[in-house]
Amino acid sequence: MKSRNIFIAGLIAISLIFAGASVSFAGDKEVCKEQIKHYLTIKMNDGLLPGDEFNPYDFKGVAESAKTMSANEAKRTHNDKNHAAITKLVTGHINDIAEAAGKAAEGSVESVGHSLRFLYLSCKACHKVYQTEKRLRP
Ligand code: HEC
Repeated sequence: MKSRNIFIAGLIAISLIFAGASVSFAGDKEVCKEQIKHYLTIKMNDGLLPGDEFNPYDFKGVAESAKTMSANEAKRTHNDKNHAAITKLVTGHINDIAEAAGKAAEGSVESVGHSLRFLYLSCKACHKVYQTEKRLRP
């Protein structure tokens, strides 16, 4: 009975070590791969007016992309306070975009553009701290 308990305790200890190892920054690559898709969807939406006959602004699409990004960003795992703080900044700008696009009102296009600029800088902030810049990314 006693040796069985030790065996179980050993198993738990080993699985904890593995769980701890996989937390690190493993989440960044997966989360970012998703984020860039939505980031580009928002960025490429260069219509100026909702009712523009030729190039309408897709408020709904932008709001949806931003909401998906917000949920994605929450999946990031953190090893230190800095990493968590930058994620918080990024999430703030994403939520501002979702809110502005959701209103679909006069001035929303500008508000989205404004927050998108901040978002670009916040994404970049993390890449500067945690990775030297490689490839094309914010
Ligand atoms: C909290 C830190 C952090 C934030 C915030 C962050 N990134 Fe990243 N990102 C990283 C790290 C670290 C890598 C490198 C991952 C690797 O190669 O293992 C990365 C890699 C990437 C990559 C390359 C992925 C690939 O295919 O290898 C893209 C694209 C990217 N980020 C886009 C974004 C965008 C867009 C945002 C903002 C919405 C963002 N990132 C926000 C940390 C962050």
